[in-house]
Amino acid sequence: MNYRHAFHAGNPADVMKHAALARILTYLNRKDSAYRVLDTHAGAGLYDLAGASAQRTGEALAGIAKVLDAPLPEAAASLLAPYFDTIRTLRAEGRELYPGSPALALALSRPQDKLLLCETHKEERAKLEKRIGADPRAKGRVKILPQDGWQAITAHLPPRERRGLVLVDPPFEEEGEFHRLVEGLKAAHTRFATGIVMLWYPIKDLRAVDAFRREVAQLKLPKTLRVEMDFAEVRTLDALSGSGLIIVNPPFTLADEMRTILNALTPLMARDGKGRARVSWLTAGG
Ligand SMILES: C[S@@+](CC[C@H](N)C(=O)[O-])C[C@H]1O[C@@H](n2cnc3c(N)ncnc32)[C@H](O)[C@@H]1O
Repeated sequence: MNYRHAFHAGNPADVMKHAALARILTYLNRKDSAYRVLDTHAGAGLYDLAGASAQRTGEALAGIAKVLDAPLPEAAASLLAPYFDTIRTLRAEGRELYPGSPALALALSRPQDKLLLCETHKEERAKLEKRIGADPRAKGRVKILPQDGWQAITAHLPPRERRGLVLVDPPFEEEGEFHRLVEGLKAAHTRFATGIVMLWYPIKDLRAVDAFRREVAQLKLPKTLRVEMDFAEVRTLDALSGSGLIIVNPPFTLADEMRTILNALTPLMARDGKGRARVSWLTAGG
């Protein structure tokens, strides 16, 4: 497997995913009781956008670089503050850093909360250990595992805390990844029915995305939210034209929050200045 998230860190798909992650964690923080985040495909944790990989693709230029300092409507700016302030804090010393899901979860969770981060790629895991595991805030509450993320769903759920989030964000490099996502969701929900589960998926092949959505809807889980953003007009089967999230048991506030956020961010990140965002319930309950 050749996937390295450093080539894609901070792109429009990351911005949408991380904006949703930050809102979910902010919601979980409303209660004092501890929660757990299981990040099944964690990546390297934290990225340097001035580094060779990010510079080679320039993907962040169309994503976080377009929105971080843009004037935004007040409602969107305030919803994005936990996410954007995390980036600003990381950049306080002048480096152009960008938080992956582990760095964001580390920054936004509290001392009582636990993070379980799975990463099978040896070098990515070594970076994760160095960038996240060695952070003083991680002491005693962050575990980094070499375990296969799909297996971790069955091995580590439900969490002892009985509250929390499962983030499933695979690289989509192998055949059958959409189907594995559905199976992963089923397994996570069976073991942890009250937990929030968030799946990320690419929008390239519309037929594959439609089939995936239908498969998810057929699971008939109680509350399933779909959030999608198109950021390119031209569709080809090998280039990302958008990305999506399926969120089961989202905080009741999340659908409206994501509408506000994406209405503000999509026009800024879309290649032709237009773009489209969709937030809708695949199964009722919201
Ligand atoms: C899309 S990246 C993760 C990005 C990260 N969640 C974020 O938002 O910052 C996917 C990662 O999954 C890792 N990976 C691939 N297959 C895996 C598996 N079966 N279990 C755990 N990690 C895996 C890859 O090495 C890669 O670093």
